[in-house]
Amino acid sequence: MAFAAETICVQGSNERKDPFGAISMPIYQNAAYAHPGLGKSTGYDYSRCSNPTRDEVQKTVALLEQGTEALAFSTGMAAITAMMEIFSPGDHLIATDDLYGGTLRLWNTISHKNGISVDCVDTSNVGTVKAALRPETKAIYLETPSNPMMKVADIQAIADLAHENGCLLIVDNTFLSPYFQKPLTLGADIVVHSGTKYLEGHNDTLSSSIISTRLQEPVCLRLTAGCYSAVSRHWQSAWNSTRRMLWPSHTGWNRDRKWKKSIISDWIPDRIRS
Ligand SMILES: Cc1ncc(COP(=O)(O)O)c(C=O)c1O
Repeated sequence: MAFAAETICVQGSNERKDPFGAISMPIYQNAAYAHPGLGKSTGYDYSRCSNPTRDEVQKTVALLEQGTEALAFSTGMAAITAMMEIFSPGDHLIATDDLYGGTLRLWNTISHKNGISVDCVDTSNVGTVKAALRPETKAIYLETPSNPMMKVADIQAIADLAHENGCLLIVDNTFLSPYFQKPLTLGADIVVHSGTKYLEGHNDTLSSSIISTRLQEPVCLRLTAGCYSAVSRHWQSAWNSTRRMLWPSHTGWNRDRKWKKSIISDWIPDRIRS
């Protein structure tokens, strides 16, 4: 059964798994979890790895983006930094020439030091993107609309180009939010957000997410999600903000997704050429 975006914002995943039947998702502001018995687990061991409140935020954001799985982080830069762990020394990326300065600084300093090179080109022109492809190109990264110049790229055409050339398409969807643009439905492989902007909507919380269409996340992202301060004391305010978002009626949201447990996966190596 499909639910409108407003319903997803208010209800979240609607799994109602709180053991005490809480209608609003409680804050699990807790580090470690007791095991019911030897060799038994509630599914939660340690909040850096997983936390019930964070899980709910992730499921809700994935539903809104029509992805299959999301990872929540404390800030957009934490998400983008974790995302870069997909790549290895020698890999090359093509990116929008006008994009958020923090992303550029990350690439010019940390990624460069790690042997990953990025060429920034005018991604509003598919021909320019095509001309920038190299044998070692592993991904095209679009910020569309871009920050600050609001340049727009054709996600569908660039997704085709990326896939024809064995590359991933990653889209920073911060500025349109999943209400106005759902890059995964246009062929993107990964969506990143600075949830600090329109997802959060109230200018009082830092947050972010990485959403994917794959049933399994690459292990490096899952691991870095745990390591890069994914557990934030802002979960509850992020959650409340998401619920408060009032969006116009919208149909077609797929509520029939099965939430698969993330496990070690090799889909990224499958998608990008070696
Ligand atoms: C398009 C875009 N992506 C990523 C970021 C980084 O997000 P954060 O400030 O939440 O770390 C920003 C921040 O302004 C942004 O505008």
